[in-house]
Amino acid sequence: MENELHQISDHSACAVQIDLRRVRTNPDFWYPVAWSRELGGEKAIDVRFAGQHIVIVRPKSGVPYALDGLCAHRQVLLGKGKVCGDQISCPAHGLRYNRDGQCVSPNVSAEAQCLRLKSWACREKDGLIFVFMGDQSLAEIVPLPDFPRVRDTRYRTRRFGQMVNCHYSFMHENLMDMNHQVLHSRLVGKMKPRFLGMDHGDDFVEARYTFARTGGKQPLSEALIYGQRRRDGRDFAYRDVMTIRTHYPYQSLRIETQGIEEPVMELWISYVPQDREQMTNRVFGLLSIKRLKVPFLLDLAWPILVAFTERVFFEDREIVELEQAAWKDLGGDHNREVFPVINQLRNLLRRCGQAPESAEKAAL
Ligand code: FES
Ligand SMILES: [Fe+2]
Repeated sequence: MENELHQISDHSACAVQIDLRRVRTNPDFWYPVAWSRELGGEKAIDVRFAGQHIVIVRPKSGVPYALDGLCAHRQVLLGKGKVCGDQISCPAHGLRYNRDGQCVSPNVSAEAQCLRLKSWACREKDGLIFVFMGDQSLAEIVPLPDFPRVRDTRYRTRRFGQMVNCHYSFMHENLMDMNHQVLHSRLVGKMKPRFLGMDHGDDFVEARYTFARTGGKQPLSEALIYGQRRRDGRDFAYRDVMTIRTHYPYQSLRIETQGIEEPVMELWISYVPQDREQMTNRVFGLLSIKRLKVPFLLDLAWPILVAFTERVFFEDREIVELEQAAWKDLGGDHNREVFPVINQLRNLLRRCGQAPESAEKAAL
């Protein structure tokens, strides 16, 4: 880190750039909006994307679809409605819409029959429901994200996520900046990160680190991830490689350790803006951990791992929410970022996101 501190980026260039916390996420990607388990048979739920209500409907046939979430009549939330066969019925006056968003109620006025809701491309994959909220003609071309570990029986996957009150860019920066280990020292001991290098391209930034434990004991959850008890941290210093990648708009983290061919842990994560200003995001995370040699040991210890990862997430959430609150109090971004990887990441998020004005225009 000390070396990187001297490679201070050009603040004069940053001064003329758009405030990153005002940049909107690019809608021309597939974003998860719900877990499959939230949407039982013949049910509908209301989800949000950047201030917009969307209703996700699982009809009798099972394949979900997405429509504008407010009834065209008086803008009542359709997520509170009833699913009747393949249609969603509004909870207020009972107008029914089909999967194309067309009002199909019989015995209503000609005017009501003309009511129509916008329909959005929607897909379900590996326990997640995705929508495509951008240019609909791109939905067929832009690939859905893939996470093969979720289907790999040699791994066990935890699905997690919560609302976090901050702009999604804080989340990307927090995960990629491994120099914040002091925050987690009560949970993981004293960890000294070493930055190994980075890669970047048009749509990605990747950073690699390795760590040494310089104080405290290895937590049990870490032993479960690495598959080994490490009594003396010095014997294992700088052996494991952690790779964090933002491949816009998603992020991933992978841990590899010597002697094991495949990663011992892989995380895929997406941050979905909820409100119009994009100051709140819903996290969808898939954390896959390689099973241990002893059968079922990981399953037995799973609650310990869940509690550990929740605590780490809680600590990170507290910090990013404080950062967001400071941004609000100060009326803008006053960050003086000195770590080149994070500056690359900030440039990527600006470049691939939508400038606030064009996002406003697109919404009109
Ligand atoms: S508000 Fe939906 S039918 Fe009247
Ligand atoms: Fe963290």
